[in-house]
Amino acid sequence: MDKTILVSGGAGFIGSHVTVELIEAGYGVVVADNMSNCDMTCFEGVKKITGRDDIPFVKMDFCDAAAVDRLFSDYRIDAVIHFAAYKAVGESVAQPVKYYKNNLSSFLNVLESASAHGGCNVLFSSSATVYGEPDTLPVTETSPRQPATSPYGNTKQICEDILRDTVKATAGSEGEIKGIALRYFNPIGAHPSGLIGELPRGVPNNLVPFITQTAIGKRECLSIFGNDYPTPDGTCQRDYIDIVDLAKAHVCAVSRMLDGDMEEDYEIFNIGTGRPVSVLELVNAFEKVNGLKLNYRFAPRREGDVTAIWADPAEANKKMGWKAERTVEETLAAAWAWEKHIAGQE
Ligand code: UD1
Repeated sequence: MDKTILVSGGAGFIGSHVTVELIEAGYGVVVADNMSNCDMTCFEGVKKITGRDDIPFVKMDFCDAAAVDRLFSDYRIDAVIHFAAYKAVGESVAQPVKYYKNNLSSFLNVLESASAHGGCNVLFSSSATVYGEPDTLPVTETSPRQPATSPYGNTKQICEDILRDTVKATAGSEGEIKGIALRYFNPIGAHPSGLIGELPRGVPNNLVPFITQTAIGKRECLSIFGNDYPTPDGTCQRDYIDIVDLAKAHVCAVSRMLDGDMEEDYEIFNIGTGRPVSVLELVNAFEKVNGLKLNYRFAPRREGDVTAIWADPAEANKKMGWKAERTVEETLAAAWAWEKHIAGQE
């Protein structure tokens, strides 16, 4: 196939799963990461899963414009998948400058170098957070974006806009950029090999790492934030998307760009299952599939949480030929296998 994909932030949770799927689909990959929020565990896992010891890895910061430009000189890059960004909602509220500086300047550097080196296909890692509290469910790509409730969420909106405007401005030029933004719902789980997964630093903010850490005894008790929401069981509903399914969506999006299948030069796709699952349902499914009891209690609502959001993934299904395949049970079994794998290493 002979196409090379740059994966920025490729040593992290989503980046490592995407790297595996790209390699398995026959793409060449360059992984670059500043390792600010991960160690080499997942990259080593990627090498084991793919049986490839020769995956190019560059330790670098995407806020360093010269380093980004060097990367584009050193490799002939056909597409970039841009993950390198901070992602903790609460931290972004406390430290907005850190978030705007990192998330925006790294993306601007990628676009600038990509364009200067003859143009490129750029896949941006966006989030369903751009929809805020939706008026109608499920959300389609044309559902309105709501004002962001955190600087983190705002960086996702701004980067989408930067990509859209850059695609428009460079159309037909030598430095042409084509773009796809994938709006992820709630990515969870781990690779079925148990060799790569999520490695949260400190106390996890997200639900599934908190569940697995409680189950293994690292945390005493899971707090379920709110059981008085206007949902069937009173807990929030989300669209939990398996990490391997999510990774495969990136391969479909990259192929779409490289094979010239895009209908517009800038496209947006929801990446979700289309299935709402409540916090309580997720906890029950985790207990059942893994045959254990989880210590949990109901706690007050968490500020900033939306009541319910799930995707209409029809566009991605139809146009990219992608569909979420794994069940929540399979995903939660993989998440638990991963937690046990890392516990065994400690
Ligand atoms: C958040 C981000 C989203 C990001 C996603 C994955 C926002 C508003 N949300 O989504 O952009 O893509 O993380 O990183 O920007 N819960 C508990 N107890 C816990 C933890 C969570 O009950 O200890 C509940 C939450 O209230 C929520 C659900 O579990 O209802 C999912 O929470 P979480 O995993 O943090 O994801 P989101 O907040 O949906």
